[in-house]
Amino acid sequence: MMLTANPAARNLVETESVSVLFEWLWLLPFAAALYYPWALSWSNQAHLSGASPLVTVAIMLTAYAVPAMAFICVYLTGAQPVISGRMVLARRLACLAVAAPPAYTLLGVLLYLMKIYGHDIAVWTGLWLALIGYFTMHSSTKPVVSFPASDSAYRRLRVAHGISSLAIMVAFLAPHLFNHLLGVFGADVHRAVMEALRVVYRNAVLEPIIIVAFFFQILSGLVLIRPKTISRADMLDALQTASGAYLTLFIASHINSVFTLARYFGTETDYKWAVADPVGLVADAWSIRLLPHYSLAVFFLIAHLACGMRVVMRNHDVRPAVYSASTWGVILVGGLVTAIITAGMIGARL
Ligand code: HEM
Repeated sequence: MMLTANPAARNLVETESVSVLFEWLWLLPFAAALYYPWALSWSNQAHLSGASPLVTVAIMLTAYAVPAMAFICVYLTGAQPVISGRMVLARRLACLAVAAPPAYTLLGVLLYLMKIYGHDIAVWTGLWLALIGYFTMHSSTKPVVSFPASDSAYRRLRVAHGISSLAIMVAFLAPHLFNHLLGVFGADVHRAVMEALRVVYRNAVLEPIIIVAFFFQILSGLVLIRPKTISRADMLDALQTASGAYLTLFIASHINSVFTLARYFGTETDYKWAVADPVGLVADAWSIRLLPHYSLAVFFLIAHLACGMRVVMRNHDVRPAVYSASTWGVILVGGLVTAIITAGMIGARL
């Protein structure tokens, strides 16, 4: 960093140096995304080789660190006073790296359906390199102009996205997650409740409506996320954007797995299927990817709803202290629900 005697000029030089640093921030989510499948593979190998469970867990935690670190990049690039094209690139790449778990699952399912076995890491690496090539050719260091979030079409779409999410939550997701919470009581309890719920969500009228609503969430989310990656953002705005990116890939991947990979080929899509019974998620080289994929989906879904709720409360003049406390409260509940569902999926029983 160049030093100068004038404090104002020194501040400017420091701001410029900091923003140059942020121009290169995209390297972090990029490297993290490349590492992600290796963390899964090494964690699986540690488990199979009989290493201490602490080693398996420690390596698995580094897989969870990939979306966590990418989230920090989403936040840091949104918190800067001036946002350049490169920083938008960094934020969008970081959003994709947050969504590495469902993206890697989707890739695995597509390769499996194409009968391409054992090349997931090579294809994943190639795709990320291609993505980086494309993004770096199309980004600039010039400041970007923020999208007017007050635009009326944008606001109407945001309201529709919120109403549709509420309908999906009531009609399907709340019961679906409640069903997965019961996994800690064993596959039989889970199955009994699922069979009762299936009467509702597999109903010939309701099921297509649920699926269409999910597609609407993905498409409207893709439109809404664009301005969010250009404008300044606080921590909860960043969480809303990052969780939205995760859910977009998760829903696409999960619906494809349930309907194409399983139901189309006549596989029973019950709890045993979801947790790779009898081998188990951690012991199976392919299925270990489902652990971060599912657990973070539960967390990000609840966090995304909490952040949406915060925007609604803020726009209806609720006091900041009240909406902040409610948002963090719901996120905390999300963490708890995630921990219980994940424990059930790796075999914990009550
Ligand atoms: C721990 C997390 C989750 C697990 C283990 C899981 C597992 C499953 C399973 C086993 C099915 C098939 C159910 C059946 O055959 O009746 C299913 C269906 C489905 N799940 Fe999930 N799921 C999880 C979270 C989610 C989340 C967060 C979403 C959406 C954001 C979601 C959306 C769906 C949809 C749309 C279906 C298809 C429903 C239908 O049959 O019409 N799931 N899931």
